[in-house]
Amino acid sequence: MSSDKLVARLDRSIVLVGLMGAGKSAVGRRLAARLGLKFIDADAEIEKAAGCSIADIFEIHGEAAFREGERRVMARLLKEPPHVLATGGGAFMEEETRERVRERGISVWLRADIELLLSRVSRRDDRPLLKSGNKREILNQLIEQRHPIYAKADIVVDSEDLPHDRMVDKILAALNSHLRSHAPLTHGSTG
Ligand code: S3P
Repeated sequence: MSSDKLVARLDRSIVLVGLMGAGKSAVGRRLAARLGLKFIDADAEIEKAAGCSIADIFEIHGEAAFREGERRVMARLLKEPPHVLATGGGAFMEEETRERVRERGISVWLRADIELLLSRVSRRDDRPLLKSGNKREILNQLIEQRHPIYAKADIVVDSEDLPHDRMVDKILAALNSHLRSHAPLTHGSTG
């Protein structure tokens, strides 16, 4: 199926989930460009709504306030017309958000191993959850807690150390086969 045909059949947003460093924003931006869809970064939207950085929200108001803002912003974004949405790593852990994603989106888990995550998160030092200790230990804990929940996503794509466009190819292939196997059965359709 060509990208055009795929977009024509998309009546929902593509929602990228996964841990910090999995490539949700970088790959999501290119995926959206390839599909001619709008790209939205949920973390950037949270910062816009709060008028300050995520690091400041955590420091000044605490994680619970951040999660509440994240839940509200995700609810708003999921009502928008189909687009590519990169979520923050914790967003899909919230049951209400998962439910909204189920209703309005196709979730894609970018599954990455610890070494890839570590190499990626080491490039930036502004992620509050990684500031309180050893990054490898924290990420390993998050893998244990979160991977079983991310596994509820509609599609799983292994994140690899590949050029972003190659990752986009992998996601498009997975989306195509998902849409094929979930196509509504219409009378007389030859598939
Ligand atoms: C978080 C991930 C971050 C950001 C916040 C909390 C998490 O987003 O939302 O620091 O709980 O995993 P990225 O996954 O885009 O880094």
